[in-house]
Amino acid sequence: MYDAVVVGSGPGGYVAAIRLSQLGKKVAVVEKEDLGGTCTNKGCIPTKALLTSTHLFEEITTKSRKFGIKVENIDYDLNDMIKHMNKVVLQSKKGIEYLFKKNNIDLIKGVAKIIDKNHIEVEEQKLETKNLILAHGSQPVIFPPFDKINGIWTSDDVFKMEELPDSILIIGGGVIGIEFATFFASLGKKVYVVELLDHILPSEDQDIAEVAKKSLMKKGVEILEKHKVTEVVKKESSYISKVEKDGETKEIESSKILVAVGRKPFIPEDIKELGVNIEKGVKTDSSMRTNIENVYAIGDIRAHIMLAHVAMYEGIVAAHNIVGDDKKADYKAVPNVIFSNPEIATVGIKEKEIDPEKVIISKFPVSANARARTMEERDGFVKIIAEKESKKILGVSIVSPNATDMIMEGVLAVKYGMTVSQLTDSIHPHPTLTESILGAEEGIEGMIIHI
Ligand code: NAI
Repeated sequence: MYDAVVVGSGPGGYVAAIRLSQLGKKVAVVEKEDLGGTCTNKGCIPTKALLTSTHLFEEITTKSRKFGIKVENIDYDLNDMIKHMNKVVLQSKKGIEYLFKKNNIDLIKGVAKIIDKNHIEVEEQKLETKNLILAHGSQPVIFPPFDKINGIWTSDDVFKMEELPDSILIIGGGVIGIEFATFFASLGKKVYVVELLDHILPSEDQDIAEVAKKSLMKKGVEILEKHKVTEVVKKESSYISKVEKDGETKEIESSKILVAVGRKPFIPEDIKELGVNIEKGVKTDSSMRTNIENVYAIGDIRAHIMLAHVAMYEGIVAAHNIVGDDKKADYKAVPNVIFSNPEIATVGIKEKEIDPEKVIISKFPVSANARARTMEERDGFVKIIAEKESKKILGVSIVSPNATDMIMEGVLAVKYGMTVSQLTDSIHPHPTLTESILGAEEGIEGMIIHI
């Protein structure tokens, strides 16, 4: 009898299992594919490996001369990039396998069939458990006509490519669309991004999307906002897409099409038969409990905030509730990170969501940051939103090199309701990119030193 069986070894599932084991529980994880789920195998890790390659390539091609470094015959090799990606993915999977062994977690390979809340079958094996964690994850959304046309990619397929397409039409200017647009455009490929809404990255403020857009356009990317793909015809070695805006249609020919219009939770029949409440995803309370006693759900299967770091956090919350702690998930300060160039990271409230009367907004440009100058970087800014009366930090948005690392100052500030003066009174190291955050904070007090 296990204390807990976790179905799915993605970031939510494997972290929940390890924490449960650390808390003295006997745990099994059931996984039908490779360890690590989407993030490790078809998401965060392989994309970042590829983007690291293209980022270095771009740095060499655009900056090495300026930095006094002579590099001749600069070229890239997709096979070697993929080799690097596969190596990193393998290291990550092996890392999880090692952690399972270290924590005496049983890994059971195969498809889990949930019989009832205490019994799971994996092929011939029968497991009995006191608690069950549903961590089945999600899959890319693809709908007609795209699902019927041969060879159209979702993000799952990109990593299997054997050669680079000469041109690619990306449907969806969200996180996946923009990260892949960055990848292909950095290698000189022709990229089109078709976004249905007003601007790419529609969940971010427009000024943030604007920096990403300019940077992509500089690389030759064509961005078609408020556009819709109405029809696709497959030719022998290309696709002709009809793209429409306000009743006007034009045709775009591309060697490949990538559909990146979101993900949906993976909810097989046995979960439905189990009787858990399902809306968009499996419903839980803030302790990750479903409506069925001792059945928990974490990560993308909840269709709440589909991010690897949120799944990990929810795994920890579920584990502590299983051992009897009373831990509630707090989503006040969830960072969003986009590995575009420059990177984008945001936390807390957005400018478009607030009443401007109640807040002070301050922006500090990357071009005024000394460390950024040493790196020949000038695009981007830090934007801070603070409550007018209390000067508590409500939101931080960063568009800058290394934004995805820098955002943690904002996460702590928003999570713990810190005030601007608490942050400006904290010494920021010089010369670093984090001084852009300090600059924006000083702006809330009307006293920016460096502009
Ligand atoms: P998304 O929700 O971020 O973006 C989908 C985009 O497609 C939206 O901009 C939407 O307006 C647009 N769209 C929808 N239907 C369309 C249509 N018919 N034509 C044109 N545009 C259309 O979803 P995405 O990029 O597929 O990512 C899926 C999930 O994976 C998200 O939850 C995302 O946050 C997560 N993810 C996170 C990453 C990160 O944290 N760096 C990296 C990659 C994915």
